[in-house]
Amino acid sequence: MRQLLVVGNWKMNGSRASINTLLGDLVSAPAIAGPEVAVCPAYVHLPQVLELCAVSAIGVGAQDCSHMQSGAYTGEVAAPMLAELGCRWVILGHSERRQYHSESDELVAAKVAVAVAAGLQPIVCVGETREQREAGEAEQVVSAQLEGALRGQVSLDSLVVAYEPVWAIGTGLTATPQQAQDMHECIRSCLEGIAGVDADATRVLYGGSVKADNAAQLFAQPDIDGALVGGAALKAADFLAIISAAAA
Ligand code: PGA
Repeated sequence: MRQLLVVGNWKMNGSRASINTLLGDLVSAPAIAGPEVAVCPAYVHLPQVLELCAVSAIGVGAQDCSHMQSGAYTGEVAAPMLAELGCRWVILGHSERRQYHSESDELVAAKVAVAVAAGLQPIVCVGETREQREAGEAEQVVSAQLEGALRGQVSLDSLVVAYEPVWAIGTGLTATPQQAQDMHECIRSCLEGIAGVDADATRVLYGGSVKADNAAQLFAQPDIDGALVGGAALKAADFLAIISAAAA
């Protein structure tokens, strides 16, 4: 049985004050005891978030890491630095990184390798664009992203995959539960063919405009093991409602 996982991707949002308020409401909420829960703030907010979450069951992750271990890479943050700070998770290959920072599957693969070596649990994001879906290429695109990021990795015991159709991120459009389930099934069968992955045990999250009112239907699907939540993770009431749907 896979434990559901709900991860808040705060993206480039928040201030020290807003985070105090948001986490103040989250850490004491009883719903947090249901599924596994994590939040991923911007790098600069990690120490504050780690301190506030220390008293709760909420895990903390970063939204990215460098593909290198250390060295002359100005502006980058290394996976071992995140692990030393106390992070448990790291989101890798998010479509906004692929789109705005030209991240390739090869680069994502290098990041997965350093993250796993540092003891972080990678949340590897995959997803097709609207054009690719309309052209009937969605499954092919997602499978290629998985293969590119995961084949040849030394260890993938802690892997989490997030299926995030690009056309659903921040748009208010969500894949229907059936569309999402179909893709999650495809992802699981693709994972079966990748050495080192226990496809049955690997959690596959859905992401893309997950809200309180669509979360329960998504979580009812057999291959949807939680959510990667953007916009709705920034308000305690909205995020808690999604967590409660996962706990039901
Ligand atoms: P959204 O973002 O929930 O705001 O669509 C999800 C994500 O990008 O992880």
